[in-house]
Amino acid sequence: MHAAVLTAFDAPPVYREHPEPVPAGDDEMVVDVLAAGLHHLTRAKANGSHYSSTGAFPLVPGADGVVRDRDGRLRYVALDDTNHGTFAERTVIDVRRSVVLPDGVDPVRIAAAMNPAMSSWVALRRRIAFPPGQRVLVIGATGNAGRMAVQVAKLFGAAHVIAAGRDATRLAELPELGADQTCTLDRLETAADVDVVLDYVWGEPAANAMVPMLTARADRSVPLTWVQIGSMGGSVAPVPSVALRSAKLQIVGSGIGSVPARDFIAELPQLAAAVTEGAISVRAEAVPLAEITRAWTAESDGRIVLVP
Ligand SMILES: NC(=O)c1ccc[n+]([C@@H]2O[C@H](COP(=O)([O-])OP(=O)(O)OC[C@H]3O[C@@H](n4cnc5c(N)ncnc54)[C@H](OP(=O)(O)O)[C@@H]3O)[C@@H](O)[C@H]2O)c1
Repeated sequence: MHAAVLTAFDAPPVYREHPEPVPAGDDEMVVDVLAAGLHHLTRAKANGSHYSSTGAFPLVPGADGVVRDRDGRLRYVALDDTNHGTFAERTVIDVRRSVVLPDGVDPVRIAAAMNPAMSSWVALRRRIAFPPGQRVLVIGATGNAGRMAVQVAKLFGAAHVIAAGRDATRLAELPELGADQTCTLDRLETAADVDVVLDYVWGEPAANAMVPMLTARADRSVPLTWVQIGSMGGSVAPVPSVALRSAKLQIVGSGIGSVPARDFIAELPQLAAAVTEGAISVRAEAVPLAEITRAWTAESDGRIVLVP
């Protein structure tokens, strides 16, 4: 069988022969991989920077994907930590971490969408209380996950969604996806009166925006829940102490661990249905798995999806 194989943290994966995966228990099954997204999570696990990285080699990357099971059904699967990921012709899945997809879905579209879409879906469903009518700010709204967060917040009944990012051209695309307002990262105080922040940037940009935003709020006693989801601007944010004292700010994170795996899995069927029905716009670029070494470091506006 062919797979993308990593043998060190600092070298890209290589397409080569690799041993067949072997199922370990009654809930495990060998499946054919149809499409697997190249997500930030996948790269971070592979280079050792993600908290769930195993650090063992050889490693076949790939945290999730669309597969065909031995009964011919399509499934979306999110793998547990493993050294045999989805960047292979075949992998082994725990069926309890998968959801059966309707016939006729586009595997590339699903593989591109589920990881970035899940970030806001799970945050708003499972990490915080999110009654309809809230005002939401998405920081990092021009990325794949951020664009979807704008749409997911609207799907869940947000009254007003502000899309923030550093790229004005990309920001201009957000209103057609449902954003009521856009702003650049250096003007976040113009988005001060929100109830929830979905933050994909973190780092200095988030820390620098907090006090100006909180100072500009009409009523600082109104709760503001800042959900840290991604860290494209830096993994460390020097949050000023006054930010936590001067307003009713609470900072929480949403990801694997702060939300139990079973809660992520429970949301898969509805999220897969929303993606399948087109409720969430998806940008995907299919690339043959044999081109993994080039794709690993390639830039793409859409999510790169490896197709064995
Ligand atoms: N916790 C979870 O459940 C979860 C799930 C999925 C993803 N994530 C995380 O979410 C983040 C975004 O993922 P994605 O799939 O949307 O990635 P993406 O498609 O590559 O988008 C990255 C976004 O980050 C922005 N960005 C990059 N560097 C920046 C910087 N230095 N300052 C400000 N903005 C910057 C980009 O802005 P431009 O458009 O200007 O380039 C773009 O909006 C990643 O950190 C990822 O690991 C978390």
